[in-house]
Amino acid sequence: MDAIDVIRVKRDGGELAPDQIDWTVDAYTRGAIAEEQMSALAMAILLNGMTRAEVARWTEAMIASGERMDWSALDRPTTDKHSTGGVGDKITLPLAPLVAACGAAVPQLSGRGLGHTGGTLDKLESIPGWRASLTNAEMLDVLRASGAVICAAGTGLAPADRKLYALRDVTGTVESIPLIASSIMSKKIAEGTGALVLDVKVGSGAFMKTPESARELAETMVAIGADHGVRTVALLTAMDRPLGRAVGNALEVAESVEVLAGGGPSDVVELTVALAREMLDAAGITGKDPADALRDGSAMDVWRRMIAAQGGDPDAPLPAAAVTHTITAPASGVLTRLDAYGVGVAAWRLGAGRARKEDPVSFGAGVTCHAKPGETVTAGRPLLTLHTDDETRVARALEALDGAYEIVPGGAADLHPLVLGKI
Ligand code: URA
Repeated sequence: MDAIDVIRVKRDGGELAPDQIDWTVDAYTRGAIAEEQMSALAMAILLNGMTRAEVARWTEAMIASGERMDWSALDRPTTDKHSTGGVGDKITLPLAPLVAACGAAVPQLSGRGLGHTGGTLDKLESIPGWRASLTNAEMLDVLRASGAVICAAGTGLAPADRKLYALRDVTGTVESIPLIASSIMSKKIAEGTGALVLDVKVGSGAFMKTPESARELAETMVAIGADHGVRTVALLTAMDRPLGRAVGNALEVAESVEVLAGGGPSDVVELTVALAREMLDAAGITGKDPADALRDGSAMDVWRRMIAAQGGDPDAPLPAAAVTHTITAPASGVLTRLDAYGVGVAAWRLGAGRARKEDPVSFGAGVTCHAKPGETVTAGRPLLTLHTDDETRVARALEALDGAYEIVPGGAADLHPLVLGKI
């Protein structure tokens, strides 16, 4: 087979045959297709799309490029969640222990942040001693000890995606729905979960800016899950404003612990409980209300066991940034808008995120939102606090926040509901 023939089929709007897909993914993973040829193919896919059969086969080939994990040794059903990423999206942290406290096993492979959205592993690494890299045997031990594990995917899991995602990142081909869907689902299916809930974010702070594109991505991923025997549902959720009040690694861990202690911002609690219900339902676990496990401390118990099992000290003080800068409300009134993207970029510029995969992150950096859209603010009172280790970063963060919020005297915020739909 020849890479040029494969490229020509997609360039001309045709459909790849199953054997062409298998050969392409395998040959690329082995290094037998040049990066420039794969770039051309990725661009042709971005421009011309893929049929459902092509996406299913492409995903299958990516899964087959590496190992498929197996949790059949566990005595509980497995269920997991994937979020397409947003600003202040710390939901995995309270959610995994909460669902485990209700009787499921949660084997969660997570990623690091890139750009304006944070990554679950970066957040958890702000806990002193916590380790993201585990062997499969260690994952099983943590799952047995606590019911939930959150860690980095090993290099053996969907290596084709690892290579292709890095190439897409530098060739302007990330934003292809078939490629995003097959990338996410190949990793989640290879992870071996029996059930999966997708949190597909919509809005300025999300990958998908419009409900239409988010719905298309969600439908594509749900279909892939169904084709592979993984019970998959998707919630479309709002990402036009940040989730919760904390954006940044250690700040978000602290907020997650508040939720596990039965408090925390109402939107974080609402989404955590909504996703937990879906995860339990997809796993076939009935008769448990996740809201009870937040109230009675059982989710917190799992969190503490899970963090300790991965070397972390759940009681250790979290890192704090060296410098804070407070923005006060310029007027009294209702905060009608607080733009997720602006806040995300500000947190990133303060040091919470990275521009390149190799960059370090600052654990203490980020933004605290003292008010949420819909709340009343008073002129001169704190609106946002910026946290950073490097004072020179404040000016660029302020630029990102310029025009990112609006206060209207006597106004009302026109907020979308947090959960916009289910697929
Ligand atoms: N996340 C992934 O894992 N893959 C993509 O292609 C986009 C987001």
